[in-house]
Amino acid sequence: MFLLPPLHSLSRFLLAGFLSCFLECAISLAADDILIADFEQASYVPWTVTGDAFGQGPATGTLPGQMLVDGFLGQKLCNSFVNGDDSTGLLVSPPVLLERDFISFLIGGGKNRELLALQLMIDNQVVRTATGTNETPGGSERLELQYWDVSQFKGKKVTFRILDQAKGSWGHINVDHIVQTNTMPKGNVQNAERSIDLTSRYIHIPIKNGAPKRVVSLLVDNKLIVRNDIELADGKPDWWAPMDVSSWQGKRGTFRVDKLHEDSAALSQIQQSNFIIDEDSMYREPLRGQFHFSPKRGWNNDPNGCVFCNGEYHLFFQHNPYGWAWGNMHWGHAVSKDLVHWEELGDKLLPDEMGPMFSGSAVVDWNNTSGLGKDGKPPLVLFYTAAGNPTTQCMAYSTDGRNFTKYSNNPVIKEVTGGNRDPKVIWHEPSKRWVMVLYVEWQKKHTAHFYTSENLKDWTLASIVNGDAPGGGYLFECPDFFELPVDGDASRKKWVLLGANSDYAIGDFDGKRFLPDATRLKGHRGRGFYAAQSFSDVPDGRRIFIGWWQTETKGMTFNQSMTVPLELGLKQTEDGPRLTFAPAKELQNLRAHTHEIVSSTPKELLQSPDSPNPLRDVSAELVELEIEFKPDSANRLLIKVRGVDIAYHADKQEIELAGHRASAPLVNGKQRLVILCDRTGIELFASDGLCYVPLPINVDPSNRQLAVATQNGNAIITSLNVYELQSAWIAR
Ligand code: FRU
Repeated sequence: MFLLPPLHSLSRFLLAGFLSCFLECAISLAADDILIADFEQASYVPWTVTGDAFGQGPATGTLPGQMLVDGFLGQKLCNSFVNGDDSTGLLVSPPVLLERDFISFLIGGGKNRELLALQLMIDNQVVRTATGTNETPGGSERLELQYWDVSQFKGKKVTFRILDQAKGSWGHINVDHIVQTNTMPKGNVQNAERSIDLTSRYIHIPIKNGAPKRVVSLLVDNKLIVRNDIELADGKPDWWAPMDVSSWQGKRGTFRVDKLHEDSAALSQIQQSNFIIDEDSMYREPLRGQFHFSPKRGWNNDPNGCVFCNGEYHLFFQHNPYGWAWGNMHWGHAVSKDLVHWEELGDKLLPDEMGPMFSGSAVVDWNNTSGLGKDGKPPLVLFYTAAGNPTTQCMAYSTDGRNFTKYSNNPVIKEVTGGNRDPKVIWHEPSKRWVMVLYVEWQKKHTAHFYTSENLKDWTLASIVNGDAPGGGYLFECPDFFELPVDGDASRKKWVLLGANSDYAIGDFDGKRFLPDATRLKGHRGRGFYAAQSFSDVPDGRRIFIGWWQTETKGMTFNQSMTVPLELGLKQTEDGPRLTFAPAKELQNLRAHTHEIVSSTPKELLQSPDSPNPLRDVSAELVELEIEFKPDSANRLLIKVRGVDIAYHADKQEIELAGHRASAPLVNGKQRLVILCDRTGIELFASDGLCYVPLPINVDPSNRQLAVATQNGNAIITSLNVYELQSAWIAR
């Protein structure tokens, strides 16, 4: 048991400084220590090398294709990732006389005591073994201090072996700084614990991005509540992750950490309060998108459970509340009345014994087919993947849109194959049945399995679509499936089946079987856009879509965001109906100031410098720029938004955004562009929505300038408006 009293903030800072020094001091040489190997030379001599895993000599750190290797001392280390994970080999030291009580060393990499090990050998027998810490994908390459008590072998001749006979994921080992010492090294404590009376809403967990992941469990009344893999800060944290413990107020909670350095302050500095730490600066951070949703703290990826119910849009999302990177998948939850102003409500689906909570969808069960409604209130039903072993499809429900209960008979669909996930459920009116589209890696193919149900609980497999169309796959995880009118004509509807990268197929659906007319069509034309999902039950029938936007937010207490809400449509083209994207009209709620530069009378824009920049008097941080033009004699129209270059190449009918090009055909000889610029990215719409280019890019905060010009000729501007937007988070 490892129990530390809470610390006041001053002592916390002192401790943080002391700690980083101490951890290093603990592995530097004491006067009478004997260095066995520091792997600082060009070759491994005098050790003997066999196999190809260790290369010609010690590595200077991270090898190509490897995650960041740190925690070693000096400039080099022994790293068996040479030629990747599949290479194997053996390093053997010359004989060494054991003269001290302990051997300490730094070690990291894969965990496998038989195949990946530092071994101490006496008379050809292994007497001590150490290995790395990683068994599953993810993890950390960091080397950590371990030691053996070898006092019983003092005076004997020993050899050391570093063994890599492992292949595949984590099939390598990192070792450095092997030392004989009489000072017992400071080590790790197993199952370190701290018990706290839970008196406040939040427990704050100290996070150091990139630190080794520790398994942190919360137990209340001796019952495991939740377990997460957390990059705990031993010293000063990069940020504090709030854990909402309001459900256990008044109880005593025990935090247990699987392994913690003896001098770590991680547990002692856990604190509680009713507020999120640094809440005052929340939503004002330099890289916080101001009209794009992002979580208060931690990582987000896919939007999940998008649904409209009782006057609110619900946006759930893949959330790591306790890390800056992916992991610990929870369903975060936010609601909005207008798709633009979101209120984050906390995590609703927590990882459980069935696994982490992977992506899924939501529907309102208006007719209470599931029987999960209460007092005449229809249930809001969530479908998610419990990504354990087995990986299954499960359900949770709520009648107040706030409190969600996992269905007691989960799973509703057993594992088909290990690669089955991301259920999207819809109501199919003509057949009066629920339909679930599930992504399944099946018989070495990427498929969508279609199931039907009358009550949301019992599902029958109806058909399978092979998403590996000739010429390449279009369907990979996070399917969405919906019907849309072509050119707004309700009598001509088509079904769309989309995958996570928004490549799609168009076709017909009879309630059981989807028959595509065309597959592998391209959705968005940008970058960093993935796993988008459409909202169920939108009252006016619009198909609103929102995507995970991989914006770069280094140094922030949160990571990634969502795109703006998009309205989808189908437009008839020469090649058939194609998907269109437009910013949802609700974004207009954010227009704070309008600059109507060209409205009723078209304006000829001459090649500069003959024409002054029509936007010279406009300066804005959050920008919606709308321009319609005929290229006329100009072969290029150039736009600059806060230092970011946008060019329309009339000759090639292409749009270029910060060097990224996409096809954007003229429509009736004209081009209309809508450009949305937030702090961490630009979304551009062209060609009546046939071309949507989302692009994460961190815009120069000091540049508020806008410009429009032509190149090699003149263009006719038929409309040009700039709207300065207000923040969706911070009221003016
Ligand atoms: C897509 C995805 C999903 C999965 C989720 C896990 O980004 O890989 O297939 O459910 O993320 O976070």
